[in-house]
Amino acid sequence: MQDATFRARYGPWCFVAGASEGLGEAFARGAAARGLNVLLAARRAPLLEGIAASIRAAHGVEAVPLPLDLSRPSLAADVQAAVEGREIGLLVHNAAYVPKGDFLAVPLEDHQRAVDVNVRALLTLVHGLGGPMAARGRGALVLMSSLAGFQGTACVTTYAGTKAFGRVFGEGLWEELRDAGVDVLACCAGATRTPGYERFATRENVLAQEPEAVVEETLDTLAEGPVLVPGRANKLAGQLMGRLLPRRMAVRLVSRSTRKLYGR
Ligand SMILES: NC(=O)c1ccc[n+]([C@@H]2O[C@H](COP(=O)([O-])OP(=O)(O)OC[C@H]3O[C@@H](n4cnc5c(N)ncnc54)[C@H](OP(=O)(O)O)[C@@H]3O)[C@@H](O)[C@H]2O)c1
Repeated sequence: MQDATFRARYGPWCFVAGASEGLGEAFARGAAARGLNVLLAARRAPLLEGIAASIRAAHGVEAVPLPLDLSRPSLAADVQAAVEGREIGLLVHNAAYVPKGDFLAVPLEDHQRAVDVNVRALLTLVHGLGGPMAARGRGALVLMSSLAGFQGTACVTTYAGTKAFGRVFGEGLWEELRDAGVDVLACCAGATRTPGYERFATRENVLAQEPEAVVEETLDTLAEGPVLVPGRANKLAGQLMGRLLPRRMAVRLVSRSTRKLYGR
């Protein structure tokens, strides 16, 4: 799609929730490269300010840092205040929190925080920013999900559950908003070389994708929802784990590697 068409369909502003590094930063840069102004939300203000300055210099668009905590109960009001009436045509819910370890060994507050960031904030942003898109008859919602949401997984039980929520929620939204002209895409990424991933990866995964590759495929296929599994190897893995293998086998296979990473 030409940049001018992309801008007309998904502009003038893109809101990225979780934009201070990794895939979120890549989404902000990718949207700006296609001519959209960007609002960058996350907690670490200095990182957001640096990314916003570099986006302004590289692409000549507006880029505004929004330091905010997506887990706060006041999120709906915080977002409306921060958006200040700007027309958001593209929302990317990218932020996630991942409690790691056996469910019962991790404090309940950690699991609740994952629900706040991965689920509650998603609902809040889609409700607050999706409504004006539907009223205008154009826009797109990107929900960052994961191959981890294709089956239950030991040591990341809550995270995997929230990612399954994102995908299934996205499918229903896609059907509801199709006739309103709003595209919905749940992006079920596999391993991606982000700082968050690198902090926990114990060995090189040759199949891991670069964030830019995930973002380009996502932005190229916004209208082809409801679900995208980016990358050829991940598409095969998604078919295998989600459809071909018996559930018990899929759960045990994936859990074997998460136990090595996060188990006691
Ligand atoms: N990397 C992978 O291998 C992989 C694979 C599949 C799916 N995914 C999905 O892709 C998305 C991004 O992954 P990533 O690896 O880039 O994640 P990441 O490196 O951990 O970055 C997450 C982003 O979310 C922000 N964030 C976290 N908690 C927040 C909060 N309470 N309020 C505001 N912002 C918050 C972080 O910024 P601050 O800390 O500055 O707030 C950061 O910008 C996630 O949804 C993840 O589930 C990733």
